[in-house]
Amino acid sequence: MVDLMGLDRAASIEDLRLKAKSRIPRFAFDLVDGGAENERNLRRNSEAFEEVEMTPRYMVDVSDIDTRASVFGQTFDVPFGMAPIGMLNAFWPGADLTLARLCKAQNIPYTASSAASTTLEKLAEAADGNGWFQLYVSSDPDVTESLISRAEAAGYTTLIVTADVPAAGKRDRDIRNQLAVPFRFTPEVVLQCAMNPRWALTSLKHGSPNVANYADLLQSATSYADVQKTLITAGFTWEDLKRLRNRWKGKLLVKGILHEKDAVACAELGCDGIVVSNHGGRQVAFGPPTIEALPAIAKAVAGRMTIILDSGIRRGADVLRAKALGADFTFAGRALAYGVGAGSDAGAKRAFDILQLELVRALGQLGIPSYAEVGPSELSASNRTGS
Ligand SMILES: Cc1cc2nc3c(=O)[nH]c(=O)nc-3n(C[C@H](O)[C@H](O)[C@H](O)COP(=O)(O)O)c2cc1C
Repeated sequence: MVDLMGLDRAASIEDLRLKAKSRIPRFAFDLVDGGAENERNLRRNSEAFEEVEMTPRYMVDVSDIDTRASVFGQTFDVPFGMAPIGMLNAFWPGADLTLARLCKAQNIPYTASSAASTTLEKLAEAADGNGWFQLYVSSDPDVTESLISRAEAAGYTTLIVTADVPAAGKRDRDIRNQLAVPFRFTPEVVLQCAMNPRWALTSLKHGSPNVANYADLLQSATSYADVQKTLITAGFTWEDLKRLRNRWKGKLLVKGILHEKDAVACAELGCDGIVVSNHGGRQVAFGPPTIEALPAIAKAVAGRMTIILDSGIRRGADVLRAKALGADFTFAGRALAYGVGAGSDAGAKRAFDILQLELVRALGQLGIPSYAEVGPSELSASNRTGS
């Protein structure tokens, strides 16, 4: 097929990010690209991955590379899935469905966010057996219960409860951009839209994005601020998690774990897994990068639960670094989102291909024919003593 968008020339996820930046209004690009406060945590996520060295071994037959990974009884073709991202259609119209379909086609998990701009039912249908559901515990127990029963009815069997939002993250870029949902058409926003006509026209066609799962709330609330107050709660405790564990019959993971004591508490409570995550550096600027928090968590968990890691995955080798330090599986958030921003469906596929091909190449260079075999012995001597 002719590559009219020049996607084949994107060599890396960073190239796709820059391409997305060139065709999306700044306020919408920053909504996804930005992090908390001065973005220290966002930067450290990537830097910390780069600091993890793995040492290649040679003269091993790597003509057949197996990237499959099994999680909760399901075998996926590559060991990364899509992290939950709220309001992604604001970044590129139709992004939610594009990514859900991509995940099904590539046989990887797709996590539908509570705050997605497409309903969980439509996303379950598009992900067709590869969908997981991420829950934000609401300040209103009826709202939480309604999301859970809808997720059950839609056929989701894996629930990811996000724990790292006792307060909304303070994102300086969004404040500077005066970001509002639904969009407020200030002269600056209008100008940014005019400079990105393709985004503007596609957005016009799709209509203003919103948090689609909360349609009732949106209708009855007097302001969007009221809706936002209901989406998350500062009052979510271990007691609530225990209730959720009893309520949800399928697999349950807790997302946003950074402290080994919290990880152990999740295991003791009967959770099936955790997502070691700092929300992609969007919650706090002062926190640790996940790849640095991982070794102590993996040691404390000692195989009792599945460990998924996200925040900062930009290269195929990052997936292997995470495995070498104790993760079973990974999520990519922005990496796949940048692909959609760069070129809709074809861009999402390009982002997937970049990560997957880098992964295969890195396994070959490490002299390891299968992802399942990656472990601490791949780490260079300095990283082994450091962990
Ligand atoms: C724009 C945006 C929205 C997000 N929305 C959610 C969400 O609704 N629920 C959630 O648990 N995490 C959310 N996250 C965090 C992601 O699930 C994931 O932890 C993060 O993107 C991983 O970092 P990465 O983007 O560097 O891969 C969001 C992240 C971004 C960038």
